[in-house]
Amino acid sequence: MLVLGIESTCDETACAIVKDGKEILANIVSSQADMHLEYGGVVPELSCRSHVEMVIPTLDLALKKAGLQLSDIDVIAVAHAPGLIGALLIGLNAAKALSLALNIPFVGVNHVEAHLYAAIMSNKSEPVFPCLGVVLSGGHTALWKVGAVGDYQLLGQTIDDAIGEAFDKVAKMLGLPYPGGPAVEQLALSGTANIPLKPGKIKGKPLDFSFSGLKTGVLYSIRKPGAEEKILSDLQRADVAASFQEAALNDVVSKAILAAQEHELKDVILGGGVINNNRLREIFKEKAPHLRCFWPNLELSLDNAAMIAGLGYHVFLRKGKIGDEYSLQCQTRLPIGK
Ligand code: KG4
Ligand code: ZN
Repeated sequence: MLVLGIESTCDETACAIVKDGKEILANIVSSQADMHLEYGGVVPELSCRSHVEMVIPTLDLALKKAGLQLSDIDVIAVAHAPGLIGALLIGLNAAKALSLALNIPFVGVNHVEAHLYAAIMSNKSEPVFPCLGVVLSGGHTALWKVGAVGDYQLLGQTIDDAIGEAFDKVAKMLGLPYPGGPAVEQLALSGTANIPLKPGKIKGKPLDFSFSGLKTGVLYSIRKPGAEEKILSDLQRADVAASFQEAALNDVVSKAILAAQEHELKDVILGGGVINNNRLREIFKEKAPHLRCFWPNLELSLDNAAMIAGLGYHVFLRKGKIGDEYSLQCQTRLPIGK
C-alpha cells in the first residue's frame, strides 16, 4: 500500500511516500527555519503563507523522487493535530482536496504519535511491547506505556514548558539563534556543568516534569533578581548552557528509568526534536545500559512526513481500511491515542 504523507503542523512543509508503513520511497522536507531566524521564533502568519506556497512543490518533488504519479497513491495521511491552527489547515485541506480529486481515502494522523512511530520505523527489529514511549519535542514532553502502535497509556507529562521550549528559551537568554536546541548543545560542548540547577519535582507525581523553575534558575545565573544583566564571558555562557543541559537531560533519563522500572518495561522508543541531542543519547547509555533504546534515523528525527505516512498506514488499517470524513477538523491540541 502506497501512502502519501503530508506534514504542516509548525515550520516545516513536508511530503513523503511510504510503502506498507516502513519503506520510504521519498521524504521531502522544506524547512522555514531561515525565514523565522530573524524573529527568534516561529511567526504563525509567515508560517501559514509559506505552507501555502510550498505544499504543491513539495508534493511534486516527492512524486518525482519516488518515480510515481499521483494515480499510484492508495491513501493520503495528514498530520491534522496538534500544531499551529493556520499551519494545520493548509496540510489538511491539501489532503482533502487530493482525496476528493483522486477519489482515494485520507486519514488524519497525530503528529506526536508519529514522532514515536518514527523510532519503530527506523529500526529493523521491532520493540517488545509493552514498551516505554518518550516524546521530547518543542511542544511536548511525556512518558507513555505503549502496548502496541495505537495503544498508549500516559505515565507522566510536563506541567508547564516542554523540554524543547525550555531549550529554545534558554538559547534566547544566552543570545543564541533559533532553533535553540542545537545551539545550546553546541555551546555546552565547551562548558562545564558547574552551576547547581534543579529541574522541578511534582509532589505525588514522580513521573511528571516541570522545566519553568529550571529556566528561572538559568535566568538568575545570568542576571540576579533586581540587578543589572551580567556580562558573561564566552566560557561562563558555555557553563550556563552545559549546566542547563545536564539538569534537563538527566531529569528526563532518571524519570524514564523510573517509569520503565515501575511498569516493567525493557524497550524504549524515543521521538521529537530533542532526541537529536547527542548528550541525551550518552546519558541514556551511561545511566540506563539495561534499557534497549530505539532512536529514529536522522531523516525521521525532526519534523517530516515519512513518519506521518508510516503511521497513517497503521491508522488506515486500524479504521478497517475506511478513511476519515471530509468533516475532520484540525486540532491545536490532541492527546495521542484519542
Ligand atoms: O519535534 P520537533 O522538530 O518539533 C515539534 O514537534 O515540536 O522539535 C523541535 C524542538 C525545538 O524546541 C528544538 O530546539 C529542539 O526540538 N531540538 C533540540 C535539538 N535539536 C532540536 N533540543 C536539544 N538538542 C538538540 N540537538
Ligand atoms: Zn514534531
